[in-house]
Amino acid sequence: MKPLWWQRGIVYQVYPRSFIDSNGDGVGDLPGILSRLDYLRELGVDALWLSPIYPSPMKDFGYDVADYTAVDPLFGTLADFDRLVEAAHARGLKLILDFVPNHTSDQHPWFKESRASRHNPKRDWYLWRDQPNNWLSNFGGSAWTFDEGSGQYYYHAFLPEQPDLNWRNPEVVQAMLGVLRFWLERGVDGFRVDVLWHLVKDEHFGDNPPNPDWREGMDPYQALIPELSSDREEVHDIVRRMRALLDEYDERVLIGEIYLPLERLVKYYGVDLQGAHLPFNFQLLSAPWDAAHLAGLIAEYERLLPAGAWPNWVLGNHDRPRIASRVGPAQARVAAMLLLTLRGTPTLYYGDELGMQNVPIPPDEVQDPFERRVPGLGLGRDPIRTPMQWSAAPHAGFTRGKPWLRVSPDYETRNVAAQRADPRSMLTLQKKLIALRQAEPSLQIGNFQILETKGDVLAYVRNKTFLMALNLRSRPQRLSLPRDGAVVLSTHLDRTQERVGNMLDLRPDEGLIVRLAHGD
Ligand code: GLC
Repeated sequence: MKPLWWQRGIVYQVYPRSFIDSNGDGVGDLPGILSRLDYLRELGVDALWLSPIYPSPMKDFGYDVADYTAVDPLFGTLADFDRLVEAAHARGLKLILDFVPNHTSDQHPWFKESRASRHNPKRDWYLWRDQPNNWLSNFGGSAWTFDEGSGQYYYHAFLPEQPDLNWRNPEVVQAMLGVLRFWLERGVDGFRVDVLWHLVKDEHFGDNPPNPDWREGMDPYQALIPELSSDREEVHDIVRRMRALLDEYDERVLIGEIYLPLERLVKYYGVDLQGAHLPFNFQLLSAPWDAAHLAGLIAEYERLLPAGAWPNWVLGNHDRPRIASRVGPAQARVAAMLLLTLRGTPTLYYGDELGMQNVPIPPDEVQDPFERRVPGLGLGRDPIRTPMQWSAAPHAGFTRGKPWLRVSPDYETRNVAAQRADPRSMLTLQKKLIALRQAEPSLQIGNFQILETKGDVLAYVRNKTFLMALNLRSRPQRLSLPRDGAVVLSTHLDRTQERVGNMLDLRPDEGLIVRLAHGD
């Protein structure tokens, strides 16, 4: 079967607040994004996924939605959105929206009604109990908040301002499927579904068991194993219904945000692949950076994928430390080569194509509610959400006003304009990797085979055609090759057309793509 766009293609995540501000209020917006679609074309990606743009009190920066079928004035208007979809499509780009079904804002009219009284028809749209159980909020503390007015507790997996919807209530299901339809009709090409594995909870609200591996100083949420509050069997029926709705339209994609061990993650492809097209695979966000671990998790993922399921890989997002900070700038180039040569749809996080780093945010500038509620453990997400670095102009060319979050101090040298002009820059490397993947079906959809992985080198072959050899350390390495070939690309961007025999020499922190000579 001919591969679909979301199988061949590359997804690019835009965090709208931080991408580009067109009106000088210090917050990125939709007209800004529209003005940078040509940049995304230049980069060579296929789809952009926008973190939430809906009206919101912004307690969790848009992941607290007060109206699912409108655009927050901070980002623009519905007309701006329509223009963006049209302009994206005119350039052959797909547009994916963030869908946040697990919880609303406490300012959503549904919750206002629900909390108005115990007898309100929308009472059961949320989760109300006379007594809390031991479930914890992902953002610290109990997941239950007492509502004085109506005398019960409501459940919130995140902030108290983000009450969880009751997905066991058919009216909620109907209303939320209606939201998907609204955006599908407006032409969006798919959804990234926020915390998909959280939607359904144990109907008896049993306590979660303690996590024996939890220690003081770890994320307090991990003190319990959230087996009764998430990843319940019934969620798969909901996913199937979302998918069935998308299937009424042409080639739309359903992506799920799911942080689970691989064997449970792959269940979200659904029975007979009728679930999510792409349950996000976050393994690379936390994998120890060594060849044995990486080879092991790639092999495990490939082994666990249901027959016919399409893989995917994520290297960064708005919740997790930036790759360039996690593995260092030199290895970030190797990581880019890994992401863009693995089998499966890659998702890039804005700014990672420049090697942007985590930016330390002084305590008095902290914005993220997670950091405010659980300070000092390094869990805060502001450092990875700083403004995109476009140029050496003030505020990195992001805004003519005051940016909502400080700009990285390295912006004068690390920016799009400077890297565009530098033939050895990270941006140049990313463009070359993307262009190569786009030009070579072997890299887009070809099969994957790991070569024996020794020491610090991770080596694999796609479609018997391309061999990737990634040196994960800063000392030279040597690898024997199954056949001779020619270097197509080095992460150092200085080695092409070089013939290689049965030995391949890798310099420190070098990744190579070799086109193998024909053979078996
Ligand atoms: C997801 C989002 C994160 C948000 C949370 C609550 O994990 O990626 O940014 O805070 O859900 O909606």
